[in-house]
Amino acid sequence: MIPIITIDGPSGTGKGTIAKRLAQKLRWSLLDSGALYRVAALAALRQRIPLDAAEALVERLRALPFPLKGDQVWLDGEDVSQEIRQEAIGTAASQIAALPEVRQALLDWQRQAAQPPGLVADGRDMGTLVFPHALLKIFLTASLEERAKRRLKQLKEKGFDDSLAGILQEIGARDLQDQSRLIAPLRPATDALVIDTTHLDVDEVFLQVYEAAVQRLSEKIHRRP
Ligand code: C5P
Repeated sequence: MIPIITIDGPSGTGKGTIAKRLAQKLRWSLLDSGALYRVAALAALRQRIPLDAAEALVERLRALPFPLKGDQVWLDGEDVSQEIRQEAIGTAASQIAALPEVRQALLDWQRQAAQPPGLVADGRDMGTLVFPHALLKIFLTASLEERAKRRLKQLKEKGFDDSLAGILQEIGARDLQDQSRLIAPLRPATDALVIDTTHLDVDEVFLQVYEAAVQRLSEKIHRRP
């Protein structure tokens, strides 16, 4: 069994940063599942496919090659790694993510990412639905205000010109949509380690996650017959 560590939570909790650091430290693969939903949304927007047209969306998705290459995200032969980070694409991603057909179509890509020696997967339903047998499940939270500030900083660093009020509104709406959808609603797995990161910096969060990972991996080794 390939060991998998899942890191779920709402936007702006630092999941992506922590997942990337953990994957680097363990020398495991990394799956940014949000990037798949974002690239699917961008693919739809580019072809003017309505965001509720499940069948047309799935057809478009099935025609795409796997879009993640290391740190980069590709669509139609173009590196769209920066473009998909816009908040508007996040909002569109959240809309299509509420469609069961789209979630199903993205499932194969996500499961294929589980390769030896291990996988760190971040998203919303990694621990609950995609990898329910993961070795360790982490769920990161933080207050909406703190998450909006972090997201704003990230977007400014990428050259986007968003306002705090706009981000607050967008991620608040996106959280609500992600939490209230019928399929794969955002919630911690019952066996997840929940960490409130509101008053923690990245290093402090990473330390907690890394220690939990080391402990779980050593338990796994000692459990071997
Ligand atoms: O994590 P990120 O902000 O990039 O995700 C964008 C959107 O994609 C989320 O708001 C959510 O609606 C959707 N998503 C999801 N399940 C995942 C990852 C992302 O529904 N595993």
